[in-house]
Amino acid sequence: MEKKKLYIKTMGCQMNVYDSQKMADILAPLGYTTVDTPEGADFIILNTCHIREKATEKVFSDLGRLRRHKENSDKKVLLAVAGCVAQAEGELITKRAKYVDMVFGPQVYHKLPEMVLQATNNERVINTDFPAESKFDSLPLETTGEGYSGFVAIQEGCDKFCTYCVVPYTRGSEFSRPYKQIVDEAKALVDGGVKDITLLGQNVNAYNNEISFAELLSKINDIEGLERIRYVTSHPMDVTEDQINAHGTLSKLMPYLHLPIQSGSNKVLELMNRKHTAEAYLESIEKFRKARPDIAISSDFIVGFSGETEQDHQDTLELIKKVGYTACYSFKYSPRPGTPGAAMKGVVAEDIKERRLQELQALLTQQQTDFNKNFIGQTVEVLLDRKGSKTGQIMGKSPYMQSVYVEADESLLGQTVNVKIKRASQNSLSGIVA
Ligand code: 5AD
Ligand code: SF4
Repeated sequence: MEKKKLYIKTMGCQMNVYDSQKMADILAPLGYTTVDTPEGADFIILNTCHIREKATEKVFSDLGRLRRHKENSDKKVLLAVAGCVAQAEGELITKRAKYVDMVFGPQVYHKLPEMVLQATNNERVINTDFPAESKFDSLPLETTGEGYSGFVAIQEGCDKFCTYCVVPYTRGSEFSRPYKQIVDEAKALVDGGVKDITLLGQNVNAYNNEISFAELLSKINDIEGLERIRYVTSHPMDVTEDQINAHGTLSKLMPYLHLPIQSGSNKVLELMNRKHTAEAYLESIEKFRKARPDIAISSDFIVGFSGETEQDHQDTLELIKKVGYTACYSFKYSPRPGTPGAAMKGVVAEDIKERRLQELQALLTQQQTDFNKNFIGQTVEVLLDRKGSKTGQIMGKSPYMQSVYVEADESLLGQTVNVKIKRASQNSLSGIVA
Protein backbone atom coordinates (compact mmCIF):
# COMPACT_ATOMS: atom_id res chain seq x y z
CA MET A 1 0.00 0.00 0.00
CA GLU A 2 1.12 3.53 -0.76
CA LYS A 3 2.52 5.22 2.38
CA LYS A 4 0.95 8.57 3.17
CA LYS A 5 1.60 11.20 5.81
CA LEU A 6 -1.09 12.46 8.16
CA TYR A 7 -0.71 15.66 10.18
CA ILE A 8 -3.33 16.42 12.84
CA LYS A 9 -3.30 19.67 14.77
CA THR A 10 -5.37 19.32 17.93
CA MET A 11 -6.86 22.18 19.89
CA GLY A 12 -8.91 22.12 23.08
CA CYS A 13 -9.80 19.43 25.55
CA GLN A 14 -8.70 15.85 26.17
CA MET A 15 -11.73 14.57 24.32
CA ASN A 16 -10.28 16.22 21.21
CA VAL A 17 -6.91 14.59 21.89
CA TYR A 18 -8.72 11.25 22.13
CA ASP A 19 -10.66 11.94 18.92
CA SER A 20 -7.45 12.84 17.05
CA GLN A 21 -5.86 9.57 18.17
CA LYS A 22 -8.91 7.66 16.97
CA MET A 23 -8.84 9.45 13.61
CA ALA A 24 -5.23 8.34 13.23
CA ASP A 25 -6.22 4.78 14.15
CA ILE A 26 -9.01 4.76 11.55
CA LEU A 27 -6.74 6.15 8.85
CA ALA A 28 -3.82 3.78 9.58
CA PRO A 29 -5.29 0.90 7.50
CA LEU A 30 -5.50 3.33 4.54
CA GLY A 31 -1.73 3.78 4.69
CA TYR A 32 -1.53 6.95 6.76
CA THR A 33 1.14 7.39 9.43
CA THR A 34 1.11 10.45 11.66
CA VAL A 35 3.81 13.09 11.38
CA ASP A 36 4.63 16.02 13.69
CA THR A 37 4.70 18.83 11.14
CA PRO A 38 2.50 19.78 8.18
CA GLU A 39 5.49 19.87 5.78
CA GLY A 40 5.10 17.18 3.17
CA ALA A 41 1.85 15.82 4.62
CA ASP A 42 -0.72 14.23 2.31
CA PHE A 43 -3.60 14.85 4.68
CA ILE A 44 -3.91 17.72 7.15
CA ILE A 45 -6.65 17.74 9.80
CA LEU A 46 -7.33 20.71 12.03
CA ASN A 47 -9.23 19.35 15.06
CA THR A 48 -10.85 22.44 16.51
CA CYS A 49 -12.29 23.71 19.81
CA HIS A 50 -15.19 26.15 20.11
CA ILE A 51 -15.40 26.57 23.88
CA ARG A 52 -14.04 30.11 24.26
CA GLU A 53 -13.10 33.34 22.53
CA LYS A 54 -12.21 33.91 18.93
CA ALA A 55 -12.26 30.18 18.17
CA THR A 56 -13.52 30.70 14.64
CA GLU A 57 -11.01 33.45 13.77
CA LYS A 58 -8.21 31.24 15.06
CA VAL A 59 -9.33 28.46 12.73
CA PHE A 60 -9.28 30.79 9.73
CA SER A 61 -5.81 32.08 10.55
CA ASP A 62 -4.52 28.52 11.00
CA LEU A 63 -6.15 27.55 7.72
CA GLY A 64 -4.48 30.48 5.99
CA ARG A 65 -1.11 29.05 7.02
CA LEU A 66 -1.93 25.42 6.29
CA ARG A 67 -3.34 26.20 2.84
CA ARG A 68 0.20 27.05 1.68
CA HIS A 69 1.30 23.46 2.30
CA LYS A 70 -1.55 22.34 0.12
CA GLU A 71 -0.99 24.86 -2.65
CA ASN A 72 2.81 24.60 -2.77
CA SER A 73 2.77 20.83 -2.97
CA ASP A 74 3.04 18.99 -6.29
CA LYS A 75 0.91 16.14 -4.95
CA LYS A 76 -2.72 16.26 -3.91
CA VAL A 77 -2.99 17.33 -0.28
CA LEU A 78 -6.30 16.97 1.57
CA LEU A 79 -7.18 19.67 4.08
CA ALA A 80 -9.90 19.03 6.67
CA VAL A 81 -11.51 20.95 9.51
CA ALA A 82 -12.85 18.66 12.25
CA GLY A 83 -14.14 19.09 15.79
CA CYS A 84 -16.42 21.59 17.44
CA VAL A 85 -15.82 24.67 15.24
CA ALA A 86 -16.53 22.48 12.20
CA GLN A 87 -19.78 21.40 13.87
CA ALA A 88 -20.83 24.92 14.82
CA GLU A 89 -19.56 26.89 11.82
CA GLY A 90 -19.42 24.29 9.04
CA GLU A 91 -21.29 26.39 6.53
CA LEU A 92 -19.20 29.51 7.16
CA ILE A 93 -15.97 27.51 6.76
CA THR A 94 -17.04 26.02 3.42
CA LYS A 95 -18.03 29.49 2.17
CA ARG A 96 -14.98 31.40 3.39
CA ALA A 97 -12.31 28.79 2.78
CA LYS A 98 -13.06 27.24 -0.59
CA TYR A 99 -9.75 25.35 -0.54
CA VAL A 100 -10.88 23.20 2.41
CA ASP A 101 -11.72 19.69 1.18
CA MET A 102 -13.54 18.33 4.20
CA VAL A 103 -15.54 19.70 7.11
CA PHE A 104 -16.84 17.22 9.66
CA GLY A 105 -18.08 17.26 13.25
CA PRO A 106 -17.08 15.17 16.29
CA GLN A 107 -19.76 12.49 15.80
CA VAL A 108 -18.95 11.33 12.25
CA TYR A 109 -15.22 10.74 12.04
CA HIS A 110 -15.75 6.98 11.95
CA LYS A 111 -16.81 7.69 8.35
CA LEU A 112 -13.34 8.99 7.46
CA PRO A 113 -12.56 6.19 4.97
CA GLU A 114 -15.60 7.10 2.82
CA MET A 115 -15.03 10.81 3.32
CA VAL A 116 -11.41 10.49 2.20
CA LEU A 117 -12.49 8.60 -0.92
CA GLN A 118 -15.01 11.32 -1.75
CA ALA A 119 -12.48 14.10 -1.23
CA THR A 120 -9.85 12.26 -3.29
CA ASN A 121 -12.39 12.27 -6.13
CA ASN A 122 -12.63 16.04 -5.81
CA GLU A 123 -15.99 15.96 -4.12
CA ARG A 124 -16.25 18.38 -1.25
CA VAL A 125 -17.24 16.73 2.04
CA ILE A 126 -19.46 18.48 4.57
CA ASN A 127 -20.76 16.33 7.38
CA THR A 128 -22.09 17.83 10.60
CA ASP A 129 -24.72 15.17 11.30
CA PHE A 130 -25.56 13.63 14.64
CA PRO A 131 -26.04 10.13 13.23
CA ALA A 132 -28.32 7.60 14.92
CA GLU A 133 -25.59 4.98 14.99
CA SER A 134 -22.72 5.63 17.35
CA LYS A 135 -19.21 6.19 16.03
CA PHE A 136 -17.93 4.06 18.91
CA ASP A 137 -19.40 0.94 17.27
CA SER A 138 -17.04 1.34 14.32
CA LEU A 139 -13.86 2.57 15.96
CA PRO A 140 -10.92 0.16 16.05
CA LEU A 141 -9.85 -1.05 19.48
CA GLU A 142 -6.20 -1.16 18.53
CA THR A 143 -4.38 2.09 18.83
CA THR A 144 -1.29 3.36 17.10
CA GLY A 145 -0.58 5.58 20.11
CA GLU A 146 2.11 4.69 22.55
CA GLY A 147 3.06 5.39 26.14
CA TYR A 148 2.12 4.42 29.65
CA SER A 149 -0.87 6.72 30.08
CA GLY A 150 -4.02 6.38 27.99
CA PHE A 151 -7.52 7.74 27.61
CA VAL A 152 -10.85 6.01 27.09
CA ALA A 153 -13.95 8.03 26.22
CA ILE A 154 -16.85 6.52 28.15
CA GLN A 155 -19.47 9.21 27.77
CA GLU A 156 -19.98 12.10 25.47
CA GLY A 157 -22.23 15.09 25.06
CA CYS A 158 -24.27 17.14 27.46
CA ASP A 159 -27.93 17.72 28.32
CA LYS A 160 -27.27 20.33 31.01
CA PHE A 161 -27.35 23.50 28.89
CA CYS A 162 -25.36 25.80 31.14
CA THR A 163 -26.18 29.19 29.65
CA TYR A 164 -22.55 30.03 28.75
CA CYS A 165 -21.65 26.76 27.07
CA VAL A 166 -21.56 25.52 23.46
CA VAL A 167 -20.97 21.85 24.26
CA PRO A 168 -24.62 20.70 24.10
CA TYR A 169 -24.75 22.18 20.57
CA THR A 170 -21.40 20.92 19.27
CA ARG A 171 -21.17 17.49 20.92
CA GLY A 172 -24.87 16.67 21.07
CA SER A 173 -26.86 15.03 23.85
CA GLU A 174 -25.52 12.75 26.57
CA PHE A 175 -24.53 9.30 25.40
CA SER A 176 -22.86 6.50 27.35
CA ARG A 177 -20.95 3.75 25.57
CA PRO A 178 -21.79 0.12 26.31
CA TYR A 179 -19.61 -0.90 29.23
CA LYS A 180 -18.28 -4.04 27.56
CA GLN A 181 -16.86 -1.91 24.75
CA ILE A 182 -15.20 0.37 27.32
CA VAL A 183 -13.68 -2.49 29.30
CA ASP A 184 -12.38 -4.08 26.08
CA GLU A 185 -10.80 -0.82 24.98
CA ALA A 186 -9.21 -0.34 28.41
CA LYS A 187 -7.86 -3.91 28.34
CA ALA A 188 -6.43 -3.38 24.86
CA LEU A 189 -4.59 -0.29 26.14
CA VAL A 190 -3.23 -2.21 29.14
CA ASP A 191 -2.12 -5.03 26.83
CA GLY A 192 -0.24 -2.38 24.85
CA GLY A 193 1.64 -1.26 27.98
CA VAL A 194 -0.63 1.43 29.41
CA LYS A 195 -0.68 1.58 33.22
CA ASP A 196 -2.65 4.71 33.87
CA ILE A 197 -6.09 5.24 32.32
CA THR A 198 -8.17 8.39 32.40
CA LEU A 199 -11.85 7.90 31.63
CA LEU A 200 -13.19 10.79 29.60
CA GLY A 201 -16.59 12.40 29.26
CA GLN A 202 -18.09 15.89 29.13
CA ASN A 203 -20.20 14.68 32.08
CA VAL A 204 -18.21 11.59 32.89
CA ASN A 205 -20.11 10.77 36.08
CA ALA A 206 -23.44 10.91 34.22
CA TYR A 207 -22.31 7.58 32.75
CA ASN A 208 -25.10 5.06 32.74
CA ASN A 209 -25.51 2.17 30.34
CA GLU A 210 -26.73 -1.05 31.96
CA ILE A 211 -24.35 -0.35 34.83
CA SER A 212 -23.69 2.85 36.80
CA PHE A 213 -20.55 4.98 36.75
CA ALA A 214 -19.39 3.55 40.08
CA GLU A 215 -19.92 -0.01 38.81
CA LEU A 216 -17.91 0.82 35.71
CA LEU A 217 -15.07 2.16 37.88
CA SER A 218 -15.08 -1.11 39.76
CA LYS A 219 -14.86 -3.13 36.53
CA ILE A 220 -11.93 -1.02 35.32
CA ASN A 221 -10.32 -1.44 38.75
CA ASP A 222 -10.39 -5.22 38.16
CA ILE A 223 -8.22 -5.06 35.01
CA GLU A 224 -4.99 -6.84 35.71
CA GLY A 225 -1.86 -4.88 34.94
CA LEU A 226 -3.59 -1.52 35.23
CA GLU A 227 -2.25 0.61 38.08
CA ARG A 228 -4.09 3.89 38.07
CA ILE A 229 -7.55 5.24 37.22
CA ARG A 230 -8.75 8.81 36.92
CA TYR A 231 -11.78 10.39 35.34
CA VAL A 232 -12.71 13.85 33.99
CA THR A 233 -14.97 15.86 34.03
CA SER A 234 -17.55 15.31 36.76
CA HIS A 235 -20.65 17.44 37.10
CA PRO A 236 -21.81 18.29 40.64
CA MET A 237 -25.41 17.34 39.74
CA ASP A 238 -24.38 13.81 38.75
CA VAL A 239 -22.40 12.98 41.90
CA THR A 240 -23.75 9.88 43.68
CA GLU A 241 -22.94 8.26 47.03
CA ASP A 242 -21.52 5.32 45.07
CA GLN A 243 -19.10 7.57 43.17
CA ILE A 244 -17.98 9.08 46.47
CA ASN A 245 -17.58 5.69 48.15
CA ALA A 246 -15.57 4.34 45.23
CA HIS A 247 -12.76 6.67 46.34
CA GLY A 248 -12.67 4.86 49.66
CA THR A 249 -12.79 1.33 48.27
CA LEU A 250 -11.15 1.05 44.83
CA SER A 251 -7.41 0.58 45.18
CA LYS A 252 -6.48 1.95 41.74
CA LEU A 253 -8.72 5.01 41.83
CA MET A 254 -6.44 8.00 42.30
CA PRO A 255 -7.14 10.57 45.03
CA TYR A 256 -7.99 13.26 42.53
CA LEU A 257 -11.31 14.86 41.61
CA HIS A 258 -12.01 17.54 39.02
CA LEU A 259 -15.38 18.96 40.04
CA PRO A 260 -16.04 22.32 38.39
CA ILE A 261 -18.30 24.78 40.19
CA GLN A 262 -17.69 27.86 37.94
CA SER A 263 -18.87 30.39 40.56
CA GLY A 264 -19.33 30.56 44.33
CA SER A 265 -22.40 32.79 44.10
CA ASN A 266 -25.81 31.11 44.12
CA LYS A 267 -27.25 33.96 42.07
CA VAL A 268 -24.63 33.49 39.33
CA LEU A 269 -25.00 29.70 39.48
CA GLU A 270 -28.68 30.19 38.78
CA LEU A 271 -27.99 32.58 35.90
CA MET A 272 -25.59 29.95 34.57
CA ASN A 273 -28.32 27.29 34.90
CA ARG A 274 -26.00 25.10 36.96
CA LYS A 275 -28.97 23.68 38.92
CA HIS A 276 -27.11 23.43 42.22
CA THR A 277 -26.04 25.73 45.04
CA ALA A 278 -22.62 26.48 46.50
CA GLU A 279 -23.76 24.81 49.74
CA ALA A 280 -24.68 21.56 47.98
CA TYR A 281 -21.29 21.57 46.24
CA LEU A 282 -19.45 22.06 49.54
CA GLU A 283 -21.43 19.21 51.06
CA SER A 284 -20.32 16.89 48.23
CA ILE A 285 -16.70 17.90 48.71
CA GLU A 286 -16.97 17.13 52.41
CA LYS A 287 -18.28 13.64 51.62
CA PHE A 288 -15.47 12.97 49.14
CA ARG A 289 -13.00 13.99 51.82
CA LYS A 290 -14.61 11.68 54.32
CA ALA A 291 -14.26 8.77 51.89
CA ARG A 292 -10.68 9.71 50.94
CA PRO A 293 -9.16 12.31 53.28
CA ASP A 294 -6.18 13.10 51.04
CA ILE A 295 -8.22 13.62 47.85
CA ALA A 296 -6.98 16.53 45.73
CA ILE A 297 -9.79 18.74 44.47
CA SER A 298 -9.73 20.90 41.35
CA SER A 299 -12.31 23.01 39.54
CA ASP A 300 -13.03 25.35 36.65
CA PHE A 301 -14.08 28.95 37.25
CA ILE A 302 -15.60 31.58 35.01
CA VAL A 303 -15.25 35.22 36.11
CA GLY A 304 -17.30 38.10 34.79
CA PHE A 305 -20.36 36.18 33.70
CA SER A 306 -23.12 38.67 32.80
CA GLY A 307 -24.82 39.80 36.01
CA GLU A 308 -21.81 39.04 38.24
CA THR A 309 -21.40 41.79 40.87
CA GLU A 310 -18.46 42.54 43.12
CA GLN A 311 -20.26 40.66 45.91
CA ASP A 312 -20.72 37.59 43.68
CA HIS A 313 -17.01 37.69 42.90
CA GLN A 314 -16.22 37.86 46.62
CA ASP A 315 -18.50 34.86 47.17
CA THR A 316 -16.39 32.90 44.68
CA LEU A 317 -13.17 33.87 46.48
CA GLU A 318 -14.74 32.79 49.79
CA LEU A 319 -15.73 29.43 48.34
CA ILE A 320 -12.20 28.89 47.04
CA LYS A 321 -10.85 29.57 50.53
CA LYS A 322 -13.31 27.10 52.04
CA VAL A 323 -12.46 24.27 49.62
CA GLY A 324 -8.70 24.64 49.28
CA TYR A 325 -7.92 23.58 45.71
CA THR A 326 -4.80 21.93 44.36
CA ALA A 327 -4.98 23.10 40.74
CA CYS A 328 -7.72 24.84 38.80
CA TYR A 329 -8.57 26.32 35.43
CA SER A 330 -10.07 29.80 35.35
CA PHE A 331 -11.37 31.88 32.48
CA LYS A 332 -12.91 35.22 31.68
CA TYR A 333 -16.45 34.76 30.47
CA SER A 334 -16.57 34.78 26.71
CA PRO A 335 -20.06 35.05 25.18
CA ARG A 336 -20.59 32.24 22.68
CA PRO A 337 -22.85 32.84 19.67
CA GLY A 338 -26.17 31.03 19.98
CA THR A 339 -26.00 30.40 23.75
CA PRO A 340 -28.56 32.02 26.11
CA GLY A 341 -25.73 33.72 28.04
CA ALA A 342 -24.76 35.78 24.99
CA ALA A 343 -28.10 37.65 25.19
CA MET A 344 -28.05 38.30 28.94
CA LYS A 345 -27.98 41.75 30.49
CA GLY A 346 -25.40 43.02 32.97
CA VAL A 347 -22.37 42.47 30.71
CA VAL A 348 -19.20 42.91 32.78
CA ALA A 349 -16.61 45.29 31.37
CA GLU A 350 -13.39 43.75 30.06
CA ASP A 351 -11.13 45.54 32.58
CA ILE A 352 -13.28 44.34 35.48
CA LYS A 353 -13.19 40.78 34.16
CA GLU A 354 -9.43 41.03 33.89
CA ARG A 355 -9.04 42.33 37.46
CA ARG A 356 -11.35 39.67 38.89
CA LEU A 357 -9.50 36.95 37.00
CA GLN A 358 -6.19 38.18 38.42
CA GLU A 359 -7.55 38.21 41.97
CA LEU A 360 -8.97 34.73 41.58
CA GLN A 361 -5.81 33.35 39.99
CA ALA A 362 -3.62 34.91 42.70
CA LEU A 363 -5.59 33.00 45.32
CA LEU A 364 -5.55 29.74 43.34
CA THR A 365 -1.81 30.10 42.68
CA GLN A 366 -1.22 30.55 46.40
CA GLN A 367 -3.25 27.44 47.22
CA GLN A 368 -1.53 25.35 44.56
CA THR A 369 1.94 26.49 45.62
CA ASP A 370 1.21 25.81 49.30
CA PHE A 371 -0.15 22.38 48.44
CA ASN A 372 2.96 21.52 46.44
CA LYS A 373 5.44 22.94 48.99
CA ASN A 374 3.93 20.66 51.65
CA PHE A 375 5.42 17.74 49.74
CA ILE A 376 9.03 18.82 50.25
CA GLY A 377 10.76 16.10 52.27
CA GLN A 378 7.93 13.63 51.68
CA THR A 379 7.94 10.53 49.49
CA VAL A 380 5.33 10.13 46.74
CA GLU A 381 4.59 7.38 44.26
CA VAL A 382 5.23 8.51 40.72
CA LEU A 383 4.41 6.63 37.53
CA LEU A 384 7.31 7.61 35.30
CA ASP A 385 5.78 7.98 31.86
CA ARG A 386 7.75 10.60 29.91
CA LYS A 387 11.19 12.00 29.28
CA GLY A 388 11.83 15.37 30.90
CA SER A 389 13.01 18.42 29.00
CA LYS A 390 16.59 18.09 30.34
CA THR A 391 18.89 15.11 29.90
CA GLY A 392 19.10 12.79 32.88
CA GLN A 393 15.57 13.73 33.80
CA ILE A 394 12.34 11.82 33.41
CA MET A 395 8.91 12.67 34.67
CA GLY A 396 5.50 11.44 35.67
CA LYS A 397 2.45 12.16 37.76
CA SER A 398 1.90 11.86 41.49
CA PRO A 399 -1.40 10.32 42.67
CA TYR A 400 -2.59 13.93 43.09
CA MET A 401 -1.97 14.86 39.43
CA GLN A 402 1.16 16.88 40.17
CA SER A 403 3.88 16.72 37.53
CA VAL A 404 7.03 15.33 39.14
CA TYR A 405 10.50 15.67 37.59
CA VAL A 406 12.91 12.96 38.65
CA GLU A 407 16.66 12.71 38.17
CA ALA A 408 16.77 9.15 36.92
CA ASP A 409 17.68 6.95 34.01
CA GLU A 410 15.30 6.41 31.08
CA SER A 411 15.30 2.69 31.85
CA LEU A 412 12.88 3.47 34.67
CA LEU A 413 10.20 4.68 32.23
CA GLY A 414 6.97 2.75 32.76
CA GLN A 415 7.70 2.05 36.41
CA THR A 416 6.03 3.40 39.50
CA VAL A 417 8.67 4.47 41.98
CA ASN A 418 8.86 6.26 45.30
CA VAL A 419 10.27 9.71 44.82
CA LYS A 420 11.70 11.82 47.61
CA ILE A 421 10.63 15.40 46.91
CA LYS A 422 13.38 18.02 47.09
CA ARG A 423 11.81 21.03 45.41
CA ALA A 424 8.33 22.33 44.69
CA SER A 425 6.90 25.18 42.66
CA GLN A 426 3.42 26.21 41.59
CA ASN A 427 3.33 23.76 38.71
CA SER A 428 5.56 20.85 39.62
CA LEU A 429 7.60 18.86 42.10
CA SER A 430 11.08 17.45 41.64
CA GLY A 431 13.16 14.91 43.47
CA ILE A 432 15.15 11.69 43.40
CA VAL A 433 14.22 8.03 43.52
CA ALA A 434 13.97 7.04 47.19
N1 5AD B 1 -16.58 31.42 28.57
C1 5AD B 1 -15.57 31.13 29.45
N2 5AD B 1 -15.31 29.90 29.91
C2 5AD B 1 -16.09 28.89 29.47
N3 5AD B 1 -16.08 27.58 29.74
C3 5AD B 1 -17.07 26.99 29.03
N4 5AD B 1 -17.72 27.90 28.31
C4 5AD B 1 -17.14 29.10 28.57
C5 5AD B 1 -17.38 30.42 28.11
N5 5AD B 1 -18.35 30.70 27.27
C6 5AD B 1 -15.16 26.97 30.69
C7 5AD B 1 -15.92 26.35 31.87
C8 5AD B 1 -15.80 24.88 31.59
C9 5AD B 1 -14.46 24.80 30.89
C10 5AD B 1 -14.22 23.56 30.10
O1 5AD B 1 -14.46 25.92 30.04
O2 5AD B 1 -15.21 26.69 33.05
O3 5AD B 1 -15.85 24.08 32.75
FE1 SF4 C 1 -21.04 22.82 29.15
FE2 SF4 C 1 -22.45 22.84 31.43
FE3 SF4 C 1 -22.55 20.70 29.79
FE4 SF4 C 1 -20.30 21.21 31.17
S1 SF4 C 1 -22.32 20.70 32.04
S2 SF4 C 1 -20.44 20.67 28.99
S3 SF4 C 1 -20.28 23.45 31.18
S4 SF4 C 1 -23.30 22.78 29.32
